Order: sequence, then structure tokens, then C-alpha cells
Amino acid sequence: MFCRKNEELQAFVYEAKKVTKDGNVADYIPALGRANVEDLSIAISYPDGHCVFAGDIIEKMTLQSISKIISLAMVLIENGPDAVFEKVGMEPTGDPFNSIARLESMVPSKPLNPMINAGALVVTHLISGESVAARLEKLLKFIRKMANNSAISFNEEVAKSEYDTADLNRSLCYFLKQHHLIDENIDDLIDLYTKQCAIELNCLDLARIGLVFAMNGVDPITGEERMPPSIAKICKTFMVTCGMYNASGEFAIKIGIPAKSGVSGGIMAAVPGKFGIGIYGPSLDKKGNSIAGIALLEHLSKKYQLSMF
Ligand code: DON
Repeated sequence: MFCRKNEELQAFVYEAKKVTKDGNVADYIPALGRANVEDLSIAISYPDGHCVFAGDIIEKMTLQSISKIISLAMVLIENGPDAVFEKVGMEPTGDPFNSIARLESMVPSKPLNPMINAGALVVTHLISGESVAARLEKLLKFIRKMANNSAISFNEEVAKSEYDTADLNRSLCYFLKQHHLIDENIDDLIDLYTKQCAIELNCLDLARIGLVFAMNGVDPITGEERMPPSIAKICKTFMVTCGMYNASGEFAIKIGIPAKSGVSGGIMAAVPGKFGIGIYGPSLDKKGNSIAGIALLEHLSKKYQLSMF
């Protein structure tokens, strides 16, 4: 794949960078707190194999919550939608990603969707394998294929930093275990989940993964199917309804592109039938989404009429 720097995109990045000062890097995972607040980069991957970029695209980021849509795709392939949605719902919430509030008020107590932490923990629990290492390797293999990059691995420092501070996620797990939605050792599940969140890649990789979702599960560059179209459709629907957490409604109105964000500042977007986008901008808004990444996508969506609505 050849990737060219694009001057027009560079000008958009320059403009969008101005809002980085209005946000903050995530520091509830201590290792993420060291990111450079002013970073902003973007890559766009097209079905014919060409790619354009702006900013420092080789800068690596960890997937964080972007991993949730990929683990969901893998678990749906392995178990089928009925088995997965028996344990996790399909409805958006207006709550923050790590909120514990709705678990108790829902009857039965299953998490509302797979993009909030409680739902994502159930999905990660469903990754089968003999050990945490084997389950992680299975996910890494899937991600490497999606991104067409066999070098992708996880950042041990970020994983450990989250593992050591994941008390809220641990409490979600204990609740889920009590309600029979998970039945494994909680330290193992947190170990796997934090390593999943710490999978490390760059904007180019993210754009290529976005392209696969955009093209209904097929990698148009290799011609290989990464997931059935029905599963790509489920994932893209979650990206629209819950991909940007409790900012998903506003994002759908202003931008209208299926997308998934993570607290590292990554955004993976899939413009249906057209291209995949990978963004890295670690300065976050109050809801945990990349502040400049959203500004950049809003500009691109308006200028090129990318909204699917
Ligand atoms: O569970 C967590 O706290 C993180 N590892 C992932 C959260 C995340 O990326 C939320 N994003 N906006």
C-alpha cells in the first residue's frame, strides 16, 4: 500500500489542531497521561489500495475502546449474534462509558450495549481459549489481518498501568459475575481486557481496519473476507448508535459517519462503500472523545458530504 502526504488534509489538520488546547489527555490510566496534547494525525485508506495522510502518522496509539468493536466482531463470528445478545443488549445509553448506574436499574441486569465497559467486558469474556495469552493471541491475529500488519502487538506498560488502576472495571466484573453474565476469574478477565485495550497501532492501521468495515467485511485490497457482511452491519450500527459514547447522537447529526473512539485519542471511522479513516489526537473532550479528531471529521464530512443520513 502506498500512502501519500496530502496538502489539503494537512491544512485541515492545522486548523483542527487549534482546539487541542480546549481538551485534556486521559490520565486515569497513568501511562496515557504522558501523551502530547498537541498531536493530531489522520490517514484515509481507499478500496483501490491508495492512501493519503497528514500529521505524524507513524506515531503509535493504543486502541482502548476502539478494541471493543473489533472484539465484538470476532466474538460474533465465533458465537453467532443470538448467543452474544443473550448476554449484552443492543440499546444506546446516555451515560458515560464506565458508568455503573444502569446495571442495577435494568431487569435483567445485562449491560445495555457492547460499547460501554460493562458490555465490552462481557464480550471479552466470550473470547474463548485455554489461557489469557491464547485468547489475546487470537484477537491479535484477527486485528493483524484486519489491518494487514503482522507487526501489531500490545503495549505492556499501558496494559499494566490500566491493570493496576482498574478498580471500577473490576467492580463491574464482580457485578456481572454475581448476575451470571460472566463466570471466569476476574483478574484473568481484567488482564485480558487491559491487554486488549493496550493493543498498539498507528493511523494507517486504523484506516485499513475502518476500510474493512466500510466495505462490509471485505478487505477490498486483498479481496479477502474478514467477517460476514451481516456482522459488519451489526458493528457499523453500534458505531453509529454507541461508538462515540454519550456523544453519539450529536456525532451522528453533525458528522453522520459510523465511528469508534478510544481514550487514547484514536478514532476509527468507516465511510460506507467509500473509505476507512484513522485519526490520532490525544486531547480529549469531556466525554472522552478526541476533541480535534471530531473537529477534523466534522470539517471533512461537511466539505465532502460524507454523512450517511
Ligand atoms: O475501560 C477503560 O477504561 C479503557 N481501557 C477503555 C475506555 C475507553 O477508551 C473509553 N473511551 N472513550
